[in-house]
Amino acid sequence: MRIGLFDSGVGGFTILKKVVELCPDSSFIYLADTARLPYGVKTSNEIKQIAEEISSWFNYQNIDAFLVACNTTNAIALDVIKKKLDVPVFDLIWSVASSIQESRVGVLATPSTAKTKAYTNAILEFKPNTFVIEKSCPEFVPMIEMDDINSAKITDIAIGYLQPLLKQEIESLILGCSHYPLITPLLSKVLPSHVKLIDPAEALSFKLKLFIESKTNNLVKRKDFVDSKFFVTSDPKNFSFRAKHWLNVFPEVNLVSLQKKGRVS
Ligand code: DGL
Repeated sequence: MRIGLFDSGVGGFTILKKVVELCPDSSFIYLADTARLPYGVKTSNEIKQIAEEISSWFNYQNIDAFLVACNTTNAIALDVIKKKLDVPVFDLIWSVASSIQESRVGVLATPSTAKTKAYTNAILEFKPNTFVIEKSCPEFVPMIEMDDINSAKITDIAIGYLQPLLKQEIESLILGCSHYPLITPLLSKVLPSHVKLIDPAEALSFKLKLFIESKTNNLVKRKDFVDSKFFVTSDPKNFSFRAKHWLNVFPEVNLVSLQKKGRVS
């Protein structure tokens, strides 16, 4: 089965890794809109426009299913993607919202995601008495993209972001941006041990696995990321190095243009 996924940058690696663990027989088309990251400070209109362009591009990639590996787009433009694509679409927010057990939940997210309260609304849909607090984290994505993930600076920033959530005695913490699992070691260090870390990619992967199992006839066997293809909107060489670092593969990365004018792939 051929699965498409996209993110603004390296955040989607965290989804890809989880999905490959549960669905090892699929191949992937990963698109990173590196020319326009970070998404998390863009307006709703900009994100909707981007979602249109990305869906149009994927419509030509012959995929069997699509993963929204970016929470910001998930929060703002899931309907745009679902309308544009004619394959099943799997998202992070609704996948994880249905699996939340705790009654006091914190969410770390990009400013654009937090503004929508998409996590709060989705969780309350399933468990109306849950207390949900969302915290916007504008500094994380640029630092993670720069590979600044172990410094004293990012540790202090993380402590600052977590403070209001811990004050509210959260029992679990959702990583509401696909970049954030890349700083799990740091977050685990600064979080009290009784607070459960939740990566929405797990719930999404599980849903996808069920879907793939229901279509087992279509399975094509593969062994790792070798059948997967990577595309970016800028700096393919750098992205290839990032893939080596996070996925331990050194893929050929192709440059694409998403705007209709000048589209090269
Ligand atoms: N990783 C994406 C998300 O989950 C986008 C982050 C960004 O580009 O700001 O929201």
